[in-house]
Amino acid sequence: MDAIKIEGLTRRFDDLIAVNKISFNVKQGEVFGFLGPNGAGKSTTLAMLSTLLEPSEGKAHVNGFDIKHRKDEVRKSIGMVFQDSTLDEELTAWENLDLHCRLYGVPGELRAKRILDLLKLVELEDRKDSLVKTFSGGMKRRLEIARGLLHEPSILFLDEPTLGLDPQTRNKLWDYIGKLNKNKGITIILTTHYMDEADKLADRIAIIDRGKVIALDSSANLKNKVGGDVINIETTDPEAVQKFVEKCKFCKEAKRHDGKVTISTDHAEKKIPELISLAEKNKVKIISVSINKPTLEDVFLYYTGKTIREQEASSIEHLRERRRMHSR
Ligand SMILES: Nc1ncnc2c1ncn2[C@@H]1O[C@H](COP(=O)(O)OP(=O)(O)O)[C@@H](O)[C@H]1O
Ligand SMILES: [Mg+2]
Repeated sequence: MDAIKIEGLTRRFDDLIAVNKISFNVKQGEVFGFLGPNGAGKSTTLAMLSTLLEPSEGKAHVNGFDIKHRKDEVRKSIGMVFQDSTLDEELTAWENLDLHCRLYGVPGELRAKRILDLLKLVELEDRKDSLVKTFSGGMKRRLEIARGLLHEPSILFLDEPTLGLDPQTRNKLWDYIGKLNKNKGITIILTTHYMDEADKLADRIAIIDRGKVIALDSSANLKNKVGGDVINIETTDPEAVQKFVEKCKFCKEAKRHDGKVTISTDHAEKKIPELISLAEKNKVKIISVSINKPTLEDVFLYYTGKTIREQEASSIEHLRERRRMHSR
């Protein structure tokens, strides 16, 4: 049985389609990454799957339970760590976990052991009696993960688990998440707009943009689709470069963005001399050329024509425009 089955799931907020007919399955024991820019619809999808938000259309099953008709069973079988902290800062770590046990009906005789085991797992046992308000961002996240696991769910949802954390803390959290999956066999669905996070953790990645899943595969397969190599050309005239590059026979794809032109090709190192001479012939000044293996950023660019950062900037602009229209 698949851990999650999603068919045509859709959510509208007035005239905005936040999630647009998405369909995919998540296998049991998988770490599944949901990658996309801010505003793409990741949190809305998790909110529907965890029964906190009604879908406008479509259906989904979590652990075999219909999210519309079997809400209680769905909730009991999942753990959820939200994008924004929902810990009670005025309580200690232990008290936060104990409260959750009571809410979820974890039997009294099991509570203390389970809380202690999970505090050990996230290396917070020595801080069990400290108030949460004295914790760093990374410690709070770890405590939230522990809390999400108290009722022993088989699926854990993590919404932007390392948002705002420093690189070292992020690395540490990635270790915990990986271990949870490997040692406990918990299916993990995480959302992120960090490419490296999806790359590092996820067995398969669904790339979501403006409410739609635009690609879904393992990181390696997604990158293979882009091609062997990526050449980045920085130039004073990206439009002209894109034009002559697109006519080259070796170019699979040329995208213009941020004053750069990105080309997907094979054996890039052999193509550079030709590119330079083409630039000279076309009287275009090239500032720099670099070659890299495709990254998930290149995958996103390949499918959308924009980098994730540019897409975020344009969706903020889009939102402002909508507000202006409404306020008129
Ligand atoms: N409660 C809501 N009311 C209106 N619009 C919302 C609401 N929640 C989310 N949205 C909009 O839906 C879109 C997707 O949001 P979200 O799922 O939070 O994206 P992500 O988690 O990928 O950043 C955004 O445009 C957001 O502004
Ligand atoms: Mg979100």
